[in-house]
Amino acid sequence: MKQTKNMNPGHQEIVMSGIRPTGFLHIGNYFGALKNYIKMQDEYECFFMIADLHSLTTHPDTKDLKPNVHRVVSEHIACGLDPEKVALYCQSHVPQTAELYLYLNMLAYKGELEKTPTFKDKVRLQPENVNAGLLTYPVLQAADIILHRAVAVPVGKDQEQHLEMARNFVKRFNHRYGEVFPEPQAFNFANALVKVPSLDGKGKMSKSENQLATIYLSDDDDLIRKKIKKAKTDSGPTEQNAPKPDYIENIFNLMKLVSSEEVVANFESAYRDCTIRYGDLKKQLGEDMVQFVRPIREKAEAIRQDEKYLKEVLAMGAEKAVKSAAATMKIVREVMGLNYFPEK
Ligand code: TRP
Repeated sequence: MKQTKNMNPGHQEIVMSGIRPTGFLHIGNYFGALKNYIKMQDEYECFFMIADLHSLTTHPDTKDLKPNVHRVVSEHIACGLDPEKVALYCQSHVPQTAELYLYLNMLAYKGELEKTPTFKDKVRLQPENVNAGLLTYPVLQAADIILHRAVAVPVGKDQEQHLEMARNFVKRFNHRYGEVFPEPQAFNFANALVKVPSLDGKGKMSKSENQLATIYLSDDDDLIRKKIKKAKTDSGPTEQNAPKPDYIENIFNLMKLVSSEEVVANFESAYRDCTIRYGDLKKQLGEDMVQFVRPIREKAEAIRQDEKYLKEVLAMGAEKAVKSAAATMKIVREVMGLNYFPEK
């Protein structure tokens, strides 16, 4: 692991990450995050959180919150995350989060929060609801992470700014009250993050945008085939060993994720000698994608139907997360001089 200090000698390093329960998980989430989580669960002490409180900053209507949380949890388990090995929990089940968020808010400055790129994006996207929760979103995220004194945070590039802010809040806290928190760092197994391109060649797959160009873990077989069939191509290479246009490179990249090496090699060579037929390429990718997604979808669906099991999983996750959070908050209150609460 790079650039992390182990604050927990003799123990496993602590990994923490979160995902908002907005939109549907897609194969970009799988290859960019979930696959990493699954490898980490055997080597680290892992806290994986569904950020339901964060979702209130953009989705104040909570009617779909519970089914969305259940779906995301089901999908995580269906992908191979083991709720016995990790703490898989919901943010709102850990009330200590709100307490630490409050203390950290006193160490976060309006100016730095206002210039955060994600905040500026949201102001553009929802000018009618620029709430204080949106402004302090990175403070809440820092609280999520340092509540477990986590050192390693598996996240994509878009979260790097939030992590840098978390390190700043940690430095200020430690400087003012005493060394309680390690500085969290972005962490990924493969170092180079897998970016899964969208099928229209415009950017990455997305949880809520360009849905026809994104393969969701909940898509049925025909929808997957249909989406891949629609992926942008052209009339094919006209000279040998021609470079691939972006949108063709994207199709090959997707294929590398779900097809066998032999299949990929065959199409690569057909591309090089200009005998490739994009219809065949997409047909093959469609079938291999269906084979990949189907077992995950079916398993997730079965778990989603089992509300009793989901409740047990979330209760178990909350118990682990609350235990870790309570231990941290005891220290926090002490160093902050907030240790005159009546003993309970
Ligand atoms: N902000 C993250 C995202 O949008 C989600 C998140 C919330 C998170 N709390 C976190 C990520 C703590 C890592 C650690 O993807």
